[in-house]
Amino acid sequence: GDSKVYRASTTAPVNIAVVKYWGKRDSKLNLPTNSSLSVTLSQSDLRTLTTASCSASYATSPETSSDSLLLNGKPEDVTGARTQACFRELRRRRAALEAADSSLPKLSTFPLRLVSENNFPTAAGLASSAAGFAALVRAVADLYELPDSPAELSLIARQGSGSACRSLFGGYVAWREGKAEDGSDSMADQVAEAAHWPDMRALVLVASAAKKGVSSTSGMQQTVATSGLFKERIATVVPQNMARMEKAIQERDFEAFAEVTMRDSNSFHATCADTYPPIFYMNDVSRAAVRAVEAINAKAGRTVAAYTFDAGPNAVVYYLEKDSEPVVGTFNHVLGEVEGWKKEVLAGLKPTMSLD
Ligand code: PMV
Repeated sequence: GDSKVYRASTTAPVNIAVVKYWGKRDSKLNLPTNSSLSVTLSQSDLRTLTTASCSASYATSPETSSDSLLLNGKPEDVTGARTQACFRELRRRRAALEAADSSLPKLSTFPLRLVSENNFPTAAGLASSAAGFAALVRAVADLYELPDSPAELSLIARQGSGSACRSLFGGYVAWREGKAEDGSDSMADQVAEAAHWPDMRALVLVASAAKKGVSSTSGMQQTVATSGLFKERIATVVPQNMARMEKAIQERDFEAFAEVTMRDSNSFHATCADTYPPIFYMNDVSRAAVRAVEAINAKAGRTVAAYTFDAGPNAVVYYLEKDSEPVVGTFNHVLGEVEGWKKEVLAGLKPTMSLD
C-alpha cells in the first residue's frame, strides 16, 4: 500500500489567566461556569512544539498501529476521554473534506503520531496542558489541511483542556462561557493583539517544581460542589472582573489591569479555601511573593506589579517594561533570601518575558 508519511509541525504558547476559569458546568464537554481572560506569553519563552504525522504504513507496525503521543521523549497515554475527544473531532472534520473530494488521501483513517517538546521544564509546575492541547489540535488541523479558523479550533482544544482554547490566539484572549448545551458557542476570541500593549511583561517565579497536589479537574469539582463563596464569585465577581479587565486592556490602564488581576486571583484562591475540606494551592513562599509585590507597589507609590497564582504555588507577576527595575530588581534581591524558591528552575527559565 501507500507508505507516504504526511507531516505538519506547529508551536503553541502558554497563557496565564488574569480572570480565572474555575468550575465546569459540563465536565464531559469542558464547559465552564464562567468566562475567563488570559495573557498569552511569548513563544520564545514558553511553548510546546508538536509534530503530527500519519501514514497508512503506520497501521502495519504494532508500535504505531494506534494513535500515539511522545512528550519530551516519553510515551503519554492518549486513551483518556479528553485526548480522544480532540482526535475524534479533528478526524470528523477531515472525513467531511474527504467525503466532499474523493481525490484527497484518506488521512482520517490512518493512525496519528504526535511528537511534542516543551521548551520549559515540564516539572516546573507551570500550566503546560494549555500549550500542549493547543499545539496538538493545531498540528493535526494543519496535517489534515482543515480550513477552520482559530476560534473554531478553540472549540476542539477546549475539550482537551479548558484553558487550552485560549492558547490558539496571541495577546489578550477571552474565553466566552457560552450558552449552548452542546458547547458550540463556548470558544475563545482575541480581545487585543500583543502589539496593542507592547510593553507588558511577565515574570515567572517558581516556588515549587513539584506537581500540584489537587488536579484542576477535581479542585473545580469540589469547589462547585461545596463552596458557598463560589456562587457569589460566579454571580457577581467574575462578570464584573471580565468587564473591568476588558476596559483596562482597551485603555492600557495598568493600575486597573493589576487590581483586577490580583483581586481575581485572591477570589479564586478564597473559593478554594472555602471548599470542604479546604484546598490550598498557595504556600508560605507564594504568600511571601504577594507581600513582596505589595512592598514594591508601596515603595513606587503606584501599582507597578500584579501577582497571580494558578492551581499551584508559583507566581506570575505582570509589570510594564518601564518598571522592570523596581519589579525584577526587587525580586532578584528578595529571592536570594527567601527560602523555598527553586533558583535552579528559575534560572532555567528566562525570568523576563515579552508577550509577542
Ligand atoms: O485548563 P485546566 O483544566 O488546566 O484549568 C486551568 C485553571 C486555572 O489555570 C487555575 C485558571 C485558568 O483560567 O487558566
